[in-house]
Amino acid sequence: MMDHKQRKILVTGGAGFIGSHLIRLLINKYPNYHIYNLDKLTYAGNLENLTDVEKAPNYTFVKGDITDGPFIQELFGKIDFDGVIHLAAESHVDRSIENPTAFVETNVLGTVILLNAAKTAWEGKEDKLFYHVSTDEVYGSLGEEGFFTEETPYDPRSPYSSAKASSDHFVRAYYHTYGLPVIISNCSNNYGSHQFPEKLIPLFINNIKHNKALPVYGDGKYTRDWLWVVDHAKAIDLIYHSGLKGETYNIGGKNEWKNIELIHLLCDIMDEELGKPSGTSRELITYVKDRPGHDRRYAIDAEKLESKLGWKATITFKEGLRETIKWYLSNESWLNNVTSGAYKDYYNKQYHTA
Ligand code: NAD
Ligand code: TYD
Repeated sequence: MMDHKQRKILVTGGAGFIGSHLIRLLINKYPNYHIYNLDKLTYAGNLENLTDVEKAPNYTFVKGDITDGPFIQELFGKIDFDGVIHLAAESHVDRSIENPTAFVETNVLGTVILLNAAKTAWEGKEDKLFYHVSTDEVYGSLGEEGFFTEETPYDPRSPYSSAKASSDHFVRAYYHTYGLPVIISNCSNNYGSHQFPEKLIPLFINNIKHNKALPVYGDGKYTRDWLWVVDHAKAIDLIYHSGLKGETYNIGGKNEWKNIELIHLLCDIMDEELGKPSGTSRELITYVKDRPGHDRRYAIDAEKLESKLGWKATITFKEGLRETIKWYLSNESWLNNVTSGAYKDYYNKQYHTA
């Protein structure tokens, strides 16, 4: 739906993987809006993700930390935001196992600081919205059967998902206690361009490129429900404009893969794209010690979003995965930049032991 009103929207974490796709979509689709991107530029945030839109007249980058209360209060005092779309977070499960505190600080405290600033700035004003972007990992781990719905009780099991679950609870608490207009969406695993090569798909693409081992955790039969990042950004746009305040929407593409099956497909496409004999990349697969507390299966029921708001995923996984692989292979300097210099230690960090 085209919206011709002028609006000022604050996107947090817009230099990250999903945030950069969302910013690109909003800038191009809504020339009447002004999009502010607030980002601390951690190892996962990179302004190179936005070079194609950074000069747009309806875009402003603000470097800052969501855990810095006075700075956030001042920002909300200076600019009368119509809405916030909150993505800034520490996002990698393995890092959360190593350093849970950093996840509490950014994901929980940072969210509460933003909620406070919005509550103060929006007191007595109409037509505002705080949209919180969350994960299906808050629902815990599924067995072989069943799906997460919006009614599934929260059962987070990693430090990452516990911090995200806590932030979701605070967002709902601000709705119920203070009447802050909020919406939450919980999405499954995203894949696509511009993702830091620590998560499964970009890590394995980069490792294959450098002929490095592919560390498969445990038995490799863990299942994830993969969604193309652009379809997630489109869902956020739709929910932001048409969703009901106080509600939650699950987002997912009905696209479950056991890790090892996904890895085989990825290896085979990599062989084709790199012009290597079939089976070459699969030889890099190495089973390693499992991630502690590893959730067995995630799967989303997105029926509410599909039937109430008319969303559906637009691309098949095989198409999307090939596009994604092609992007990483043809953006060598991006990959080199994010894995070198100040980011080198983040990239080189190994979370498993053989
Ligand atoms: P990402 O790690 O790629 O990006 C996070 C961004 O937040 C980075 O640009 C980083 O610089 C910024 N940031 C981190 N700490 C900050 C702070 N204190 N202040 C300001 N900015 C800060 O993450 P992503 O994969 O794009 O995920 C974005 C959001 O979507 C997160 O809230 C995540 O929980 C959620 N989510 C992710 C997935 C997924 O598959 N990646 C799925 C569902 C939900
Ligand atoms: P990841 O991309 O870290 O996302 P999440 O843990 O948030 O779902 O991992 C996706 C799956 O791949 C998960 O089951 C863990 C597994 N995995 C590996 O087997 N090896 C790896 O090196 C990584 C990073 C993940």
